Amino acid sequence: MQKFVVTGGVPLSGKVQIAGAKNAVLKMMAAAALTDEPVTLRNVPRISDVKIMREVMSDIGFEVRRADGDLMEITAARATWPFIPLEAARRMRASFILLGPMLARFGRVILPNPGGDRIGRRPVDLHVAALEQMGAEISYRNGYYYAAAPADGLRGARIAFPTVTVMGTENVVLAAVLARGTTIVDNAALEPEVDDLLAMLRSMGARIERTAERRIEIEGVERLGGTAHTVLGDRLEAATFAIAAAVTGGEVMLRGIDPTHLGSFREACGRIGLSFEPGADGLRVLALDRELRATDVETAPYPGFATDYQAPVSVLLTQAAGTSTIHETIFEDRMDHLRELARMGAAIEQVDERTARITGPARLHGAEVVIPDLRAGATLVLAALVADGTSVIDGVEHVDRGYEQIEAKLVALGARISRIEA
Ligand code: UD1
Repeated sequence: MQKFVVTGGVPLSGKVQIAGAKNAVLKMMAAAALTDEPVTLRNVPRISDVKIMREVMSDIGFEVRRADGDLMEITAARATWPFIPLEAARRMRASFILLGPMLARFGRVILPNPGGDRIGRRPVDLHVAALEQMGAEISYRNGYYYAAAPADGLRGARIAFPTVTVMGTENVVLAAVLARGTTIVDNAALEPEVDDLLAMLRSMGARIERTAERRIEIEGVERLGGTAHTVLGDRLEAATFAIAAAVTGGEVMLRGIDPTHLGSFREACGRIGLSFEPGADGLRVLALDRELRATDVETAPYPGFATDYQAPVSVLLTQAAGTSTIHETIFEDRMDHLRELARMGAAIEQVDERTARITGPARLHGAEVVIPDLRAGATLVLAALVADGTSVIDGVEHVDRGYEQIEAKLVALGARISRIEA
């Protein structure tokens, strides 16, 4: 077990290279299962979720090679063992993204009920129902889903999601590209990571179109070919570093990110008093005034304010003058970090399990805190960077799931943070 030791109070400034997006790369690795030709991914982040996905895919019988730098090569010639062990799924919910591609290409797969972050129930009923509409037979026994496609393969279907689901949309698309006939997905997710996956699939020969903002139409093809694709930059990592700089009174240049993907984040942070200047060298972020202003945020599917921004932005709000309200609409249990922030001196009133009020500016002080999940982990690091004194943060493995060497990048910006063996 490892911990972070952070001494706060240093303004962070400099340039930071943002890694490839976790929420895209895992699905792109799964997309490689759709062809027997090699798939090369560039800008693959060195995060533990990628490592788990790599282990899972190697177990299935695929060749997954992590080349030097940020390259990964995957060849899914055959599946010797189409089974995802419980241990892997417990560590990473996104392993469930293999349902669609494995059914489409190999006709069967056995996957556990996924775990991942403990942020609410996070069911997979919509994935399962959609694949069943495409002809799959899926039964649930002793913690595992046993899924099989009909002998003549999955068939296209009209799928209307009752709520927007990112991975649900992706699972259907990853099945539909090799299904017979046309699939129409309504109320489809719009996240930039989804569109980057669609672009990759098109480069493999898939026929996919967004025919309306929330409608994706897929015409199944016989087979897909290999490709080389560069993973888009991680807007959630970018948001974390933007806050790290602004909240410490510093300034950062974010590189490797498309500023248009940060629209709702920039809009909310603009109200708080941050300035974003896109330039040839990257996106420059700093706080315009010494005094930040309170604001209200409510999470929503893209292009709304992402649920993954909510926790890190809460640190910004502890430093803003006045009372802010955060309302979480996507997950019912994604506010655990607030309890730890309160222990560091934040003035927080938890109205209900999805709503909290934060009054600032509050003087945060170092504390021993425990990270409950991935985004909350980055949040507590941010809080420790602002706090007076030293904090010890336990549960570092949650941060490593989605951030590539967060402490090295922070040190390069001037932060006093180190990783110790507990
Ligand atoms: C993805 C992201 C995660 C982000 C979330 C919402 C990945 C690996 N993770 O998670 O970082 O916070 O989108 O933007 O890409 N739901 C159901 N039944 C289902 C599926 C979802 O009820 O079968 C519900 C969920 O409980 C949640 C909502 O739908 O309330 C949205 O979840 P979803 O978009 O599916 O999240 P993920 O794709 O798992």
